[in-house]
Amino acid sequence: MDAPTTLEAPLRHTPADLPLADVRSAALAHDPAPARRTRWLRPLRIAELVLREAFAREAIERTPEPEAMDASEGAAAFDREGEAGGALAGVYAFNARALSRMLPRGGTLLDLGSGSARFLVFLARCRPDVRIYGVELSPAMRARGRAAIVRAGLPDRITLLAGDMTELEQIAPRRVDAASAIFSLHHLPDFEHLRRCTDQIGRLRAAHGCGVWIFDHARPRLRRTAFAFPDCFTPDSAAAFKANSRDSLLAAFSYGELRETLARQLPEAPRGACARVLRLYQAHWLAPRATEAENAHGECFAAPALSRQAERDLRGLHGILPQVPA
Ligand SMILES: C[S@@+](CC[C@H](N)C(=O)[O-])C[C@H]1O[C@@H](n2cnc3c(N)ncnc32)[C@H](O)[C@@H]1O
Repeated sequence: MDAPTTLEAPLRHTPADLPLADVRSAALAHDPAPARRTRWLRPLRIAELVLREAFAREAIERTPEPEAMDASEGAAAFDREGEAGGALAGVYAFNARALSRMLPRGGTLLDLGSGSARFLVFLARCRPDVRIYGVELSPAMRARGRAAIVRAGLPDRITLLAGDMTELEQIAPRRVDAASAIFSLHHLPDFEHLRRCTDQIGRLRAAHGCGVWIFDHARPRLRRTAFAFPDCFTPDSAAAFKANSRDSLLAAFSYGELRETLARQLPEAPRGACARVLRLYQAHWLAPRATEAENAHGECFAAPALSRQAERDLRGLHGILPQVPA
């Protein structure tokens, strides 16, 4: 086996050498301490990542993840990083601002693939006036989410619905002012499921004139980028969370794939942006037809208290996705 390169050093094996299952267990066995010891190398590793990705000729195919998140350590780690002070706080703050601009005073959000509802709790605190429905396929994630909603004292404002985001007719609430999908589309098994889900979003738009907000990873061109990303950008997270991030990147739709599908399935072509510099995040959005949401954002949005790292992450996201209103 070749000696690991700088990018691959956090894993004990080079990604190309091993079947994915072995690589997963290697990542799970990974001790984060060496990553902390080599923190000073991070800027160099990030620069290498950016350059390799920018000049890559190949473009990898998707490696889908299991559709529903279960009771695994990866799901638990994702849930923990959604707590205040976790690695997802900056991302949640970015998404909460964008969505708040789509919600009129007392408006209703329908969120698709809500997981353990951490983001929904975050948003409900930023916008104390709104009502939130989340659709989640996995019973384990719904159970985790309902417990989090009760702990946050928000069961009268957030409801987790059992359901599939590719079949919303039976479960969508009567009123929808905004529809969102955050870090969830990459869980869909294939393009047919993506088509069905975006068709459902298109129907919501046609019926309610609702705002649409989609935020997700974008698949890198190189497999090694997905392996290096977690240690570069969330070096202090648990190994299971890093493995989850890597698998999400490998499963993500590319910016072009998602943009093309949305343009075909939605009644109006949404605006879209792929992150500058390292193209690993993407957002697509349609402003609501009714215009009162912008005022409601100004009047009702309560900026959350963020850790210094989350503030940096929030500023960083606005820096790499400048088209999204701050
Ligand atoms: C990575 S989690 C994201 C959770 C949440 N949006 C967040 O950002 O914290 C994605 C969730 O989508 C759920 N999911 C996957 N396919 C789904 C489907 N067809 N319908 C509803 N939920 C689905 C998974 O079970 C998982 O809990």
